[in-house]
Amino acid sequence: MNIFANANSYYDTVFKRRSVRKYSTSKVMTLQDAEAVLELCKEIIPLCPEIKTEFRLMRREELSVKFGHYCILMYSEKKDNCYVNAGYMLEQLELQLEANGIGVCWYGLASPKEKVTEDGLEFMIMLTFGIADGDFLRTNASDFSRKSCEQIWLGEDRYGVSGAVRLAPSACNSQPWMFESSGDIIRVSRKTDVRTIIPRAFRKRFNSIDIGIALCIFEITLLAKRIDFERSVLSESSASDENNLIAIAEYSLKKETKK
Ligand SMILES: Cc1cc2nc3c(=O)[nH]c(=O)nc-3n(C[C@H](O)[C@H](O)[C@H](O)COP(=O)(O)O)c2cc1C
Repeated sequence: MNIFANANSYYDTVFKRRSVRKYSTSKVMTLQDAEAVLELCKEIIPLCPEIKTEFRLMRREELSVKFGHYCILMYSEKKDNCYVNAGYMLEQLELQLEANGIGVCWYGLASPKEKVTEDGLEFMIMLTFGIADGDFLRTNASDFSRKSCEQIWLGEDRYGVSGAVRLAPSACNSQPWMFESSGDIIRVSRKTDVRTIIPRAFRKRFNSIDIGIALCIFEITLLAKRIDFERSVLSESSASDENNLIAIAEYSLKKETKK
């Protein structure tokens, strides 16, 4: 399903979602249901359509993944913005699973034996998922441990979107994003000086994925609030500026569409 076409209901999920780390031991997801999740990947919208991607399904036991029943692995052409694209794409699947009561968690601590496909696509990241052990959705925005809106948004928040984007999930909850608004132009950047326990060797990759996740949630929020936008994706490989920011995307917001 194109979650952007149904932004209102996924906007609601943004305020309730949670990474699930406890899965049912009495009821394991069937292979048929897991394959249906893989099917959903065909409808995910890319941020960068020119980057070739592929999704694969594996049993959790085939990987050194500590929880979940199955994993969706994402492979991609190794190009500029491939990590931001990966975050943007798999966040769509994450929200869809959560909205349908399926437990899911981003998983950066493991990788498959096959790191490159026969077609030369490289492993990016995976989601582990399955039947959760009990209810997992949050009931209150105060259940989230996150930076304040002021810490992640500079300038006027004309359309009241910072409260949603601050809730995006990120590796080790590092929240490496900065939104800067100037009139109706919003620049989204990756902070390179975040305090995090992510090992240095993984930081750039995981934090670029995090920005893709934040862009997905930003766009869901804009669409739910009926704000039109045009987006340009810049480069995840640029050097950071004097404020330790790498500009990843720029949005031009437009008049509100009629309800
Ligand atoms: C790229 C990425 C990698 C992650 N890797 C792991 C992981 O290996 N193990 C884990 O338990 N959680 C992992 N997480 C989940 C984060 O820890 C979690 O999203 C964050 O702490 C915020 O909590 P929440 O998702 O419950 O809101 C990862 C998240 C992202 C975005």
